[in-house]
Amino acid sequence: MKEIKRLAGWIKQSDFTVVLTGAGMSTESGLPDFRSKSGWWKSYDPSALASVDAMKTNYPLFHEFYCMRIKALEECQPHRGHYILAEWEKKGLIHSIATQNVDGFHRAAGSVNVHELHGSLRSIRCLGCGMRGGVEDFINKAGCRSCGKNLRPEVVLFGEMLPADAWDSAINDIGKADLVIVIGTSLQVYPANQLPSLTKGRKVIINCEVPAGRSKFDMVVKGKAGDVLAELKRMV
Ligand code: OAD
Repeated sequence: MKEIKRLAGWIKQSDFTVVLTGAGMSTESGLPDFRSKSGWWKSYDPSALASVDAMKTNYPLFHEFYCMRIKALEECQPHRGHYILAEWEKKGLIHSIATQNVDGFHRAAGSVNVHELHGSLRSIRCLGCGMRGGVEDFINKAGCRSCGKNLRPEVVLFGEMLPADAWDSAINDIGKADLVIVIGTSLQVYPANQLPSLTKGRKVIINCEVPAGRSKFDMVVKGKAGDVLAELKRMV
């Protein structure tokens, strides 16, 4: 594919490449995304499950939804695309990954410089005192070992700010980037969807569907993340 060859050239030329990923990065691992035909938000209402309001007013439903998502992780692993990105970081071909994903697959595949913009399902804290808790305690509805209040995963819910350290690091890296590669996101969720526009460098999106706002990108590569990254790996 002509675009992939051109993108491989851009990756080799670039001194500072940042990757921004979304749920489409992990569908080939077996996790659903949010807005595709089989995505979470086609069957469930995000405000009833993934919002601060939902957590406070209907904890049992909130708990059930996040338990389901944590358990789904046990059945899935990073795929070749995650490993290729980790290898590229080691080789100096990319600097960092900013991800909206909460599955922890980039780190599990060996990426180190990962900014988890929406937190992680693998980390739990008390929604009362903030003390860290265990995933097992959350699943078993054990309550905080310090104050007894309910536990929650450290993910960003609708109505919450992004973790400042991850957000600041992502902005800082994107400000320095001469190439930003966006993979598997519909770019519908603020503020992560603003990140590509903050670079002075080239912007590329790799996605199954051609996204709205394609004109903002220097290149659109239509395809599956794993397939496109595997093809790129042969060329860089
Ligand atoms: P979406 O579900 O909105 O978008 C995923 C995009 O990836 C879609 O455009 C798909 O077509 C595409 N896609 C699916 N599989 C793919 C594959 N194998 N290769 C390439 N592209 C693929 O997910 P996000 O944009 O990540 O936030 O959603 C952003 C945020 O909305 C999530 O982090 C979550 C959600 O509500 C919170 O819960 C706060």
